[in-house]
Amino acid sequence: MKAVLCKEFGPPEKLVLEDLPSPSPKAGEVVMEVHACGINFPDVLLIQDKYQFKPPLPFAPGGEVAGVITALGEGVSGLAVGDRVIGSTGWGGMAEEIAVEASRCTPIPDMMDFVPASAFLVTYGTSHYALKHRAKLQPGESLLVMGAAGGVGLAAVELGKVMGAKVIAAASSEEKVAIAKEHGADDGIVYPSGSLDRGQQKEFSEQIKALTDGQGADVIYDPVGGDYAEPALRSMNWEGRYLVIGFAAGDIPRVPLNLALLKGCQIVGVFLGAYIARSPEQHRENVEELVRWYTEGKLKPHISAIYPMEQASDAINDLMHRRAKGKVVVAVRPA
Ligand SMILES: NC(=O)c1ccc[n+]([C@@H]2O[C@H](COP(=O)([O-])OP(=O)(O)OC[C@H]3O[C@@H](n4cnc5c(N)ncnc54)[C@H](OP(=O)(O)O)[C@@H]3O)[C@@H](O)[C@H]2O)c1
Repeated sequence: MKAVLCKEFGPPEKLVLEDLPSPSPKAGEVVMEVHACGINFPDVLLIQDKYQFKPPLPFAPGGEVAGVITALGEGVSGLAVGDRVIGSTGWGGMAEEIAVEASRCTPIPDMMDFVPASAFLVTYGTSHYALKHRAKLQPGESLLVMGAAGGVGLAAVELGKVMGAKVIAAASSEEKVAIAKEHGADDGIVYPSGSLDRGQQKEFSEQIKALTDGQGADVIYDPVGGDYAEPALRSMNWEGRYLVIGFAAGDIPRVPLNLALLKGCQIVGVFLGAYIARSPEQHRENVEELVRWYTEGKLKPHISAIYPMEQASDAINDLMHRRAKGKVVVAVRPA
């Protein structure tokens, strides 16, 4: 079977397509014939050895897949050969076959094609966990989503609307804000794409306040970090919740903690991988709710590009260079 391999850390151009032996399932695992692999920002970090998880070399990137079960390991119940499933893999997904823990797989309905299915678990899973369990977002609250046309960002926009919030999308271009509005955002803010000087930070804060009746946002969803974090925190409402999702801008912000005191707000960490490991049953229920919302037409994964395995480096480069809108997918077995 073919796999896209990271054999040495570095930029996506270092990835190579090679033949590997097919995997066999260990106890508690299933083997999947992979049809599509969704790309997420952790893939950008993993191949450069900049992520918190460190798979041994060589490894295939790809943290989520959609495909068909071809073999069951000892002790697996509730899944069968031939089932169409999505699986959260951490890495290894850019391969024609993969062995995955059965507990990390969820069956998908026939109406869900493999490409949108492969663009579902990580983004919607992260944003659902963040908004429902960590922020306890309430109907009528205001939700500011930064990086609102990115993978987790666009999922947060859609989920914010499903949960009844007023959603403000912030992103680095008019085109990205327009995509977020197509997916339900009520208002939008275009922020500068380079580093922000003091004046631009103040302007960003004021724009958020202007769209929240001067109160500030009740919940802020931040997968970007960098220079955007402090002005966003300065525009937080009393008893708001600031969700720390990630640092796509590169820099981990250091914010003055007195802001948390002055606003009576919470700064809340969100780590989907650790949550899945600690609360697999709760996570499974979350995914089942998300799949149900998909079948009801409430969630619409936005795919900005689909690449063949031979162009896996282009797929990761789209995220690395801020070009992706919604999700980018590698079609391992083209439909
Ligand atoms: N906490 C968790 O459990 C969890 C789970 C999944 C992902 N994450 C994290 O969430 C973040 C986003 O992941 P994603 O898969 O949604 O990525 P993505 O699709 O590439 O979206 C990231 C967004 O960040 C913004 N951005 C700002 N500066 C950037 C830069 N220098 N390079 C790239 N993007 C930049 C971009 O929006 P603008 O151009 O509009 O600014 C982009 O749309 C990552 O840090 C990832 O590690 C965390």
